[in-house]
Amino acid sequence: MRRVAPAFLVFVLTFGIAGVVLGLPEIPSSSFQSSDGCGCHAALLEQWRPSMHAKALSDPLYRYKLGEANEATDGALGPFCEGCHGPVAVMAGELPGTEIADLPDVSAEAITCDFCHQVTGTDGPLGNTSVLVDADGTKRAQFDDAVSPVHETEFSAFHQSAEFCGNCHNVDHPGNGMHLEMTYTEWKEGPYAEQGIVCQDCHMTPGPGVTKPNAGKAAGTGPDREHIYTMTFAGGNVGLGDADLAQERLEAAATVELAMPEIVASGQTVDVTTTITNVGAGHYIPTGLTEVRQMWLEVVATADNGDELLRERRDFGTVLKDAEGKYPVDLWDAAGIQSDDRIPPQESTTNEYSFAMAGDGGVTVSATLYYRSASEEMAEKAGVEIPTTTMASAEALVFVSEEEQAAARVASDDDDDAEAVGLEVWVIALIFVVLVVAGVQFVRRARKRR
Ligand code: HEC
Ligand code: HEC
Ligand code: HEC
Ligand code: HEC
Repeated sequence: MRRVAPAFLVFVLTFGIAGVVLGLPEIPSSSFQSSDGCGCHAALLEQWRPSMHAKALSDPLYRYKLGEANEATDGALGPFCEGCHGPVAVMAGELPGTEIADLPDVSAEAITCDFCHQVTGTDGPLGNTSVLVDADGTKRAQFDDAVSPVHETEFSAFHQSAEFCGNCHNVDHPGNGMHLEMTYTEWKEGPYAEQGIVCQDCHMTPGPGVTKPNAGKAAGTGPDREHIYTMTFAGGNVGLGDADLAQERLEAAATVELAMPEIVASGQTVDVTTTITNVGAGHYIPTGLTEVRQMWLEVVATADNGDELLRERRDFGTVLKDAEGKYPVDLWDAAGIQSDDRIPPQESTTNEYSFAMAGDGGVTVSATLYYRSASEEMAEKAGVEIPTTTMASAEALVFVSEEEQAAARVASDDDDDAEAVGLEVWVIALIFVVLVVAGVQFVRRARKRR
């Protein structure tokens, strides 16, 4: 017999499966315009297309996990997932039950332009797709003076708030209410909320970081604006989203520092302290689906002769446990958190390492922080390539004696000198070539004049 997730069953028995689609209104998909009709905003359209919002339904990692969720709950959990990953199709009653290829374009576009621009607020407690939608054709955003030849426009203060994003970027277990994804809450309780820096400032600007104002036109035929937002919504998804933007954000999120002595006699212990600081993310790193995301620090010590004296990997993430305390478990079985060692915004984590000094020269120690959207195993099962990205790294040297350290300094100065000499030769050669070319030109012109 197939095992159905217990925490989930309790919920279904109590509230019925319909209760799983939390709060979404019933609206036909014909009340939303496909992005094909947003051509006046060509630049914004090109930004949104590669985003994970546009791919939230077709995303192979999502489809793989949805399959597992449905299997574990006899199909009961599907509507909950689809409500957030494909809100138009679920409001229209097209999902679950229709192949993506057979959905109307606008429904298959997942978190599409006209869905977001017809959202008006929050319905009930924030999270679990708590959106309030008024599909009257009016497009809502930051301007109170926008005039469109084809649709009504309206100023919306809600679109400028983090709560707009928090409608979906906080996910609670539909059965036991446990907090599964808490990006909004992490932001709300952190320093950026206090400073008034919202999600939009980092994820809807050219970034990384807050890059306001970003002057431009919101529509091809519209006026020049002091600031417009981008529809990029880039996060850490290097494999499936806009790779360059995601890479840029991951590299801006953290710094790594190494502290250790410079001289340690052979055979003695070298103590190494690493410090990772979340300098650029408005929430924990990693955030969101943190039992799937992978972030780890790899510390490696290599002697001059190539011998590896230390290699250690430490993962930072969330481990979920079920009601009996078993871990790790999947989202739907989760009843609590076994461990959570992620790094809050503008905070640091230190870790200690040690190895025995060896060799008769120097040892290079490196600390590298890596990120993957999903494990190799999950990516393979989902049939996608997910690259590993370097977020930050640091390197330092330790020597067996001060003499060795001094010798290494001299050698490295020599290298620098050699490089400098090399550069000088090139500069002289370049000046020579420029002079020759100029000379030839001069002679030619002089001849012509004659
Ligand atoms: C996830 C929701 C979401 C999606 C998807 C989305 N937008 Fe936006 N859009 C916003 C928000 C929020 C703002 C306003 C941000 C603010 O004022 O702080 C905005 C602003 C705008 C503006 C005002 C000008 C500007 O750039 O600031 C236009 C026009 C616009 N969006 C068009 C589009 C188009 C066209 C698409 C699809 C190609 C799209 N949006 C997709 C949420 C979204
Ligand atoms: C209707 C629900 C919904 C709303 C509203 C929404 N998002 Fe999302 N967002 C999602 C889903 C679902 C995904 C994951 C899609 C996937 O990876 O399959 C996502 C993914 C993202 C990502 C991750 C991309 C990556 O590279 O991993 C970022 C960043 C993001 N959203 C930012 C925002 C911001 C900023 C806002 C508010 C302006 C917002 N979202 C509003 C549902 C939403
Ligand atoms: C100060 C800038 C900043 C603010 C504010 C901010 N973020 Fe981020 N966000 C980042 C950076 C940098 C990353 C890349 C590092 C990472 O993946 O955690 C990121 C990553 C993400 C991701 C992808 C996470 C992953 O690993 O898949 C999502 C989703 C996201 N942010 C949503 C939000 C939402 C929603 C808000 C508002 C509640 C928000 N962010 C506020 C900077 C910011
Ligand atoms: C209330 C909104 C919401 C619901 C409900 C929801 N998700 Fe998501 N999902 C998100 C957001 C937001 C992200 C992006 C977070 C991040 O980048 O870490 C996401 C990301 C994902 C990803 C990662 C995709 C990628 O490309 O990295 C998978 C897989 C996923 N969700 C599966 C599911 C499944 C399966 C369910 C149902 C059990 C579900 N989600 C229910 C909002 C939701």
